[in-house]
Amino acid sequence: LVPVQLHSIILLHSTIVKVLSLTPKSPEHVEVLRNISTQFETSLWQPVSSEFIKAESAVHLFVPVNSSERVREKLRTHGITHEVLLANAEELVEMQTRNDSSDPRSSSTFYERYHSLEDIYLWINRTSQDNSASVKVLLLGSSYEKRPIYALKLSLSPGSDKKALWLDCGIHAREWISPAFCLWFVQYSLGFYGLNSEITQILDSFDVYVLPVLNPDGYRYTWTKNRMWRKNRSVSQNGRCVGVDLNRNFDANWCTEGASSSPCSEIYCGRFPESEPESQAVSNFLRTQKDLVQIYISIHSYSQMLLFPYSCTTEQAPDHQELLEMVKEAAQRIRRHYRNNYKYGAGAETIYLAPGGSDDWAYNLGIKYSFTFELQDTGRYGFLLPPSHISKACNEALLAVKTIALKVLQNR
Ligand code: ARG
Ligand code: ZN
Repeated sequence: LVPVQLHSIILLHSTIVKVLSLTPKSPEHVEVLRNISTQFETSLWQPVSSEFIKAESAVHLFVPVNSSERVREKLRTHGITHEVLLANAEELVEMQTRNDSSDPRSSSTFYERYHSLEDIYLWINRTSQDNSASVKVLLLGSSYEKRPIYALKLSLSPGSDKKALWLDCGIHAREWISPAFCLWFVQYSLGFYGLNSEITQILDSFDVYVLPVLNPDGYRYTWTKNRMWRKNRSVSQNGRCVGVDLNRNFDANWCTEGASSSPCSEIYCGRFPESEPESQAVSNFLRTQKDLVQIYISIHSYSQMLLFPYSCTTEQAPDHQELLEMVKEAAQRIRRHYRNNYKYGAGAETIYLAPGGSDDWAYNLGIKYSFTFELQDTGRYGFLLPPSHISKACNEALLAVKTIALKVLQNR
């Protein structure tokens, strides 16, 4: 996500980290907020990049302790008022990394907690070993820092060369609910095959590829160094900035409006399409499987949206109407079952222009049913969604995946 209407600032004030929402009222305010977000050590939550800050549109910003005094001073001098979104973000960060395995409930709550990259690698191994008849581990490539990029292939029912559903998570490092969903999905599939009729029908008809952490270097970095990191960890040519936005690095109107060619930007598109080993790993695999993979779904957060192509142009995709019907039904079911609202539509008109995205690339490759889901929430906790919200967030997304897969089966 990088929503535009809300600008939020997470502010660290004294030793307390706060998330602030600020709404610039004048061009001067816009300028000041752009300067704060680029020159001070802060993390913009919304919009995704400082050039999108505009008057009368809220900004969410995360400000670490060491710059909080100077940020507050600047806001005061320019008469910019703020609203506190999160009074104690530090405690939330702590809550998310707490992983008490001595807790007797710890095995039953495994899927309701966030997990480090190392733990996710162990989980991948264990899941395939414990389910060797139905789960295979595929090594799709390796990251910039040479970490393996694994996908699980779920084949619950007999038959080779079944059509397939692809699910990837963790392309943006700080969106922790995303990898949590991939784990949730695998667990649910293995546990409810034969018990829940919808997942059974889906797994009888499709093989499912699940890539839990597309951006392992970035994900690890959010656990060890900077919770708000978004991009991968590749070092730019001049060596001064780190990271390419992997969801701007695919070959779909690459690096046009909505992406940046500047290596320091949060939406840096990279040196050329698929310049990054992580995006290459995914696109190389999907190119070899494109005749079998019928559904592509990429999981992000936050903002609660079900999106389909295009994001790289405001033009309508040829299958716009059919895709719209699918996400509309998914959003309706989420509203009925979980009383929660998801927006839906083509990416460019529903959030913003974002060229070089994996969904548009997959669509143009011929995978007609291509989607990006933005999971919970809409900004209350943002990227710091507490573990207690994981199950509801994942169940909503699961219902959307099921709805779409069943619709594809109906339509074929
Ligand atoms: N929030 C995500 C991003 O900024 C997804 C935006 C939709 N774009 C897309 N190509 N699907 O990358
Ligand atoms: Zn994202």
